[in-house]
Amino acid sequence: MSSSSITLKTADDIAKMRRVGLIVADVLDAVEAACRPGVSTWELNEVANEVMTKAGATSAFLGYAPHGAPPYPGVLCTSVNEVVVHGIPRKDVILKDGDIIGIDFACYKEGFCADSARSIGIGTISEEARRLIEVTRASLDKAIAACVHGNRLDDIGWAVQSHVEKHGFSVVKEFCGHGIGRFMHESPSVPNFGSPGHGLRLKRGMVLAIEPMVNAGREDIEVLGDGWTAVTQDRRLAAHVEHSVAITGHGPVVLTRR
Ligand code: MF3
Ligand code: CO
Repeated sequence: MSSSSITLKTADDIAKMRRVGLIVADVLDAVEAACRPGVSTWELNEVANEVMTKAGATSAFLGYAPHGAPPYPGVLCTSVNEVVVHGIPRKDVILKDGDIIGIDFACYKEGFCADSARSIGIGTISEEARRLIEVTRASLDKAIAACVHGNRLDDIGWAVQSHVEKHGFSVVKEFCGHGIGRFMHESPSVPNFGSPGHGLRLKRGMVLAIEPMVNAGREDIEVLGDGWTAVTQDRRLAAHVEHSVAITGHGPVVLTRR
């Protein structure tokens, strides 16, 4: 994909994306507050839908149907334990003490989209789960720090991969982050791996959704028969975090964090 197909955002565009980014943060705050043992992932979807609707925003996920997948049936992705990403909210998936869950949400307002995800523990989680979430969050922080005008796209992926592999975990290669703006998925694709100093040059006005997906065990994943749910092949734990980040003259600006 050539860099010429990347839509650069103006300061006014980025101001709008910041406003929708704060709605995404509010939704994830509300969902996170509702995450406790006994709650179904369908109830979490309802919390997200209510906060989104009150804010005057519309879902980026509901009905989304890329490359032959069935239309996505929720406004939130809820990915429990071995589910890496795109877990569909269900009444019969009930959170229990010791689970980890990835909550992923994106919406549109004023013509722009913002996209963010968090991984959180339910009650008391294992030491491995705690470390997995901590390493995944830190890998995103390092990737955000690489979002500087003049750096290269692979510097972002390398920041994720090097941190994750140093801690003995593995990076998922099949799914990537993405440009974001008037559409949820824009160019470029943003892999969570790469060779430092390679790839297209990052420029002021680019906005990227960076989303490390990290497995406790092997990197391999598979998609279940529902066409969405991506699980680790070895059924060990996975974590996923995401922020929408603007590359500006003042460095990286995280649009989906207060
Ligand atoms: N945040 C994810 C992404 O960037 C989720 C999209 S999948 C959907 O690709 F179906 F829920 F839309
Ligand atoms: Co995304």
